[in-house]
Amino acid sequence: MRPLIVGNWKMNGARESAIKMACELADAASGLACDLVICPPFTLLYPLALALDGTALAVGAQDCHQAAAGAFTGDVAAPMVAETGATHVILGHSERRQYHGETDAMVRAKVETAVRAGLIPIVCVGESAAERHAGHETEVVGAQLAHSLPDNFAGVVAYEPIWAIGTGLVPTVEDVTAMHDFMRAQLLARFGAGAAQRPLLYGGSVKASNAGQLLAVANVNGALVGGASLVASEFLAIAQAATQ
Ligand code: 13P
Repeated sequence: MRPLIVGNWKMNGARESAIKMACELADAASGLACDLVICPPFTLLYPLALALDGTALAVGAQDCHQAAAGAFTGDVAAPMVAETGATHVILGHSERRQYHGETDAMVRAKVETAVRAGLIPIVCVGESAAERHAGHETEVVGAQLAHSLPDNFAGVVAYEPIWAIGTGLVPTVEDVTAMHDFMRAQLLARFGAGAAQRPLLYGGSVKASNAGQLLAVANVNGALVGGASLVASEFLAIAQAATQ
């Protein structure tokens, strides 16, 4: 499977510098044996998709609403995201679950709406520090997978342990291996043989310095990168590590 490296810019980026950086990434992307996606804030989706049209660098959103249209002040619908030229959408990120009260049922509805709009969903799951300390991580992630993914799911799943996000802490290679093997088994059991081809990303403090060992894990098919995706050289070094 071709590795997939996704940059989640979160609430960062200004138009001029973002376009400059995206073009720099696109120049390098064509020579890489992996797929690259950047997910800027909504306001930058259209200018970046326009600037990157015809390049090997794709654009994704960080969320969309579960309804396709309607009276939802301040929200953005999946067809609107697709209309910008974006091809992917991150759904159920732990920051959305934590700060916006998103539940598995909402995430599932968002995935269905996103797929109907032609977007590739990147669904995030992951346990808290307390849940891992209690030894409940597979139970938590298993429940999130069961309830956040619709029955016809054919997208990307990202394992992002909450305690590893923005902290510099990363699970051991053994822990990442165990969780990704578990997730693959869950997907195969529910969706059949096609689930072997669904990319499973790891996210949480991925940097150029640790990308090599994380991406070498058998069922890790790529990375969802936060902070390190804001620096072109760092993001490209992670992409390079994915192809080794
Ligand atoms: P960091 O790479 O900054 O830890 O963020 C991970 C993340 O939340 C990506 O979605």
